[in-house]
Amino acid sequence: MKALVVYESLWGNTAAIAAAIAEGIGPHARALHTGEVDPGEARAADLLVVGAPVHAFGMPSAASKQSVDQRPVPAGAITPDTHQPTLRSWLEEAPVTDGLAAAFDTRIKGPLGHGGASKIEKLLAARGRVIASPAMGFYVKNDKAPTAPASMLVSGELDRARRWGESLATHVEHEP
Ligand SMILES: Cc1cc2nc3c(=O)[nH]c(=O)nc-3n(C[C@H](O)[C@H](O)[C@H](O)COP(=O)(O)O)c2cc1C
Repeated sequence: MKALVVYESLWGNTAAIAAAIAEGIGPHARALHTGEVDPGEARAADLLVVGAPVHAFGMPSAASKQSVDQRPVPAGAITPDTHQPTLRSWLEEAPVTDGLAAAFDTRIKGPLGHGGASKIEKLLAARGRVIASPAMGFYVKNDKAPTAPASMLVSGELDRARRWGESLATHVEHEP
């Protein structure tokens, strides 16, 4: 079974969740950001898991990343990576195949935290992918000045991501 986890991430939180999901799926699974994925590898993936941070109740966009670029980085905070291709543009160009897929996002707990993974799921379905498991959200703290990569993650979320990856692997194993 070939599995690939593709993500977009500014401060490393979605990246860390993606790595934990890949670890849960198994040793053959890789987590790569949108700028690192070879289209052939995406086409060949029996299971494609795709995630991004929630921005403005949806997926990151050129405008949401520009707004981040325009904010000064507070003293002691890490600089966000705004140069990865957006997941939306990556998905719009992703190869059409009938393999399995699942979507996830990172979000703030509460009324702000929705709209990312559900949109990713729709774009995956538009590329022909069959949704193996309902979209999943992983929680971050609302920290405007994170001082280390992945430091916004709520405690326990990496374990939850690993377990979700394990459950996704069983979906693929059960496919005829
Ligand atoms: C421009 C912008 C808009 C955001 N909008 C939302 C939002 O609508 N809902 C939410 O839950 N989180 C929102 N967030 C918080 C992000 O989800 C959080 O920064 C992200 O999960 C961190 O992941 P990353 O380190 O992988 O980028 C927003 C963040 C930014 C920078």
